[in-house]
Amino acid sequence: MSAPLAPTERLLHGATIPRLGLGTSPMTDVEAEKAVAEAIQAGYRLFDTAENYRNEVGVGRGLRVGGLDRADLFVTTKFNKGWHGVDLVEKAWAGSAERLGVEYIDLLLIHWPNPGQDRYVDAWQGLINLLESGKVRAIGTSNFKPAHTERIIAATGVVPDVNQIQLHPGVARTAAREFHARHGIVTESWSPLGGESYDLLADPVVTGLADRYGRTPAQVVLRWHMELGLVTVPKSSNPERIAANIDIFDFRLEPEDVATLSGLDKGEQAAFDSDRFGH
Ligand code: A2P
Repeated sequence: MSAPLAPTERLLHGATIPRLGLGTSPMTDVEAEKAVAEAIQAGYRLFDTAENYRNEVGVGRGLRVGGLDRADLFVTTKFNKGWHGVDLVEKAWAGSAERLGVEYIDLLLIHWPNPGQDRYVDAWQGLINLLESGKVRAIGTSNFKPAHTERIIAATGVVPDVNQIQLHPGVARTAAREFHARHGIVTESWSPLGGESYDLLADPVVTGLADRYGRTPAQVVLRWHMELGLVTVPKSSNPERIAANIDIFDFRLEPEDVATLSGLDKGEQAAFDSDRFGH
């Protein structure tokens, strides 16, 4: 049987992103190489890393082991606050491209806004320049609040393709999702399965639905992300879970079950505050 492929979404600047990919934090180079190669066999085409994860070399090796054409892969990475400058972003790109062993990056993100440093508008202008040069196919942000995004749009007139934020049923980010939708920005969820601070997959609401649908708790939660129109990157180093996490495109959740899961939302105070935290 051939591996399931995720459906895709068209981004504002013309690139096409798979709706589900592999997250790689926290993996070492060795773990990332294995997991990425495994994921390619399981049907994954989107891979998410960051300078800060220190595994871009391993992700790049895994991509080459996978043996697909470069054009069939979608590689996302992110840069740290030391590169927030119009010309510095090109250097961040060059470092990531070299570590990954790629000629272009599909999606490059500002990892955190770091408003204390107040140079994310310059970083955004640097990304716009990279897009124009063809070194990236799409540009975006991560952990930006609507106020940060409004500022970069006002300063440059250019809207991000993607904002990747902490998002799962326990931290549902309704206002951010609505803001993104108004601007045509795709919302991408990190820690889609709940992360370390909340055992979402053991919540009785989730396990009850999993029993009813005859699916795993993770599959039900990942389906919630799909029903909301999100792109998401669950992390797993385990071959069975890597395969199970993408095997979700043959069922749907009923609207009332989507709403039940959304009812687990603990509000914005449960999310990392990107006005205070970042690197
Ligand atoms: P593992 O790598 O052992 O599979 P998130 O992406 O929300 O941060 O979650 C990642 C965590 O969830 C990792 O600890 C990962 O562990 C675990 N995980 C990933 N997929 C599944 C799954 N299908 N069932 C249970 N746990 C999972």
